Amino acid sequence: MKTVKDYIRTIPDFPHEGIMFRDVTTLFSDPRGFRMAVDQLLHPYVGTKIDKVVGLEARGFILGGAIAHQLSIGFIPVRKAGKLPGKVISQDYKLEYGEATVELHDDAIQAGEKILVIDDLLATGGTAEAGIKLIERLGGEIVGCGFVIDLPELGGRKRLEALGVDVKALCTFEGL
Ligand code: PRP
Ligand code: MG
Repeated sequence: MKTVKDYIRTIPDFPHEGIMFRDVTTLFSDPRGFRMAVDQLLHPYVGTKIDKVVGLEARGFILGGAIAHQLSIGFIPVRKAGKLPGKVISQDYKLEYGEATVELHDDAIQAGEKILVIDDLLATGGTAEAGIKLIERLGGEIVGCGFVIDLPELGGRKRLEALGVDVKALCTFEGL
């Protein structure tokens, strides 16, 4: 039987030469692959109280939306700067070159709410850490962080675990 990893396509030299891009569109477009990914991301949390799913832009919206729907709970987007229309809180984080900013509506999460964070890929962990900081600034409690792919060489898991966050990933790829 195919695993989640089998549905992920690798495209060499995108977006830069030397980068192996792990493309989850082929996972999302397959009916069995997509369901498998959503089910496996959910599975560790069956029976756990979760109030909201937070998805990280952009592919975290696709997975997180499906998971929130499956759990019959609300979905909250963490977006790149300047996209959310209401009052926001912002968090800067480092990229390979330069900085980026993510934002969360300041009324999206109530203090004490249990939050599951979802994205497609964990690399350095900078994006997820910024999302976690936003959630925690509003008083949300992180139940866990779920990813389809972990790139262990980039250290994201260790970085998030150092924050006390439970990290789950469905597969790993060696090599950048
Ligand atoms: C990619 C990926 C994760 C993030 C992981 O998103 O989808 O969100 O990078 O990298 P990190 O662990 O080093 O932070 P990207 O920033 O390319 O944007 P996109 O999802 O909007 O395409
Ligand atoms: Mg992303």
